[in-house]
Amino acid sequence: TEQSYIMIKPDGVQRGLVGDVIKRFEQRGYTLKGLKLINVAKDLAEKHYQDLSARPFFPALVDYICSGPVVAMVWEGKGVVATGRKMIGATNPLASEPGTIRGDFAIEVGRNVIHGSDSVESAQREISLWFPEGVAEWTPVAKPWIYE
Ligand code: GTP
Ligand code: MG
Repeated sequence: TEQSYIMIKPDGVQRGLVGDVIKRFEQRGYTLKGLKLINVAKDLAEKHYQDLSARPFFPALVDYICSGPVVAMVWEGKGVVATGRKMIGATNPLASEPGTIRGDFAIEVGRNVIHGSDSVESAQREISLWFPEGVAEWTPVAKPWIYE
């Protein structure tokens, strides 16, 4: 089944948005497979955002991700990568639709609360980067009430 790496960034944790973010993914019907609250080492943040290393905002981005604990998660379910991105909203929160996480909770691109993998391939890379120990194995009892 498809999995996505979803991360509540330090501003989301500091602002008490952890429960709301988890609630949205649970209510949609996705399955939580991995979850941890961690302070991020600089080299992990740099590896995570390696594709952006040439951008002028890269040092500030790495500092932001390392500025406090993040909630690292793996969510599983049909279409979770693309749907997760829709639930999160546009990169720039002022362009995010109301009803999305960024559209409801954020204003600036440098404080946009949450990360979501942008493709199935990125998700696989990010999950092995953030969860080298692996994730939990379980099947929710509600599965037949979410999938036909
Ligand atoms: P993620 O889910 O965090 O990967 O965001 P994204 O996929 O919507 O955007 P992208 O991968 O292009 O950028 C990663 C992160 O870098 C963004 O979420 C922002 O936190 C930050 N970022 C992107 N563009 C800018 C920018 O122009 N200025 C600043 N300050 N930060 C940016
Ligand atoms: Mg991205």
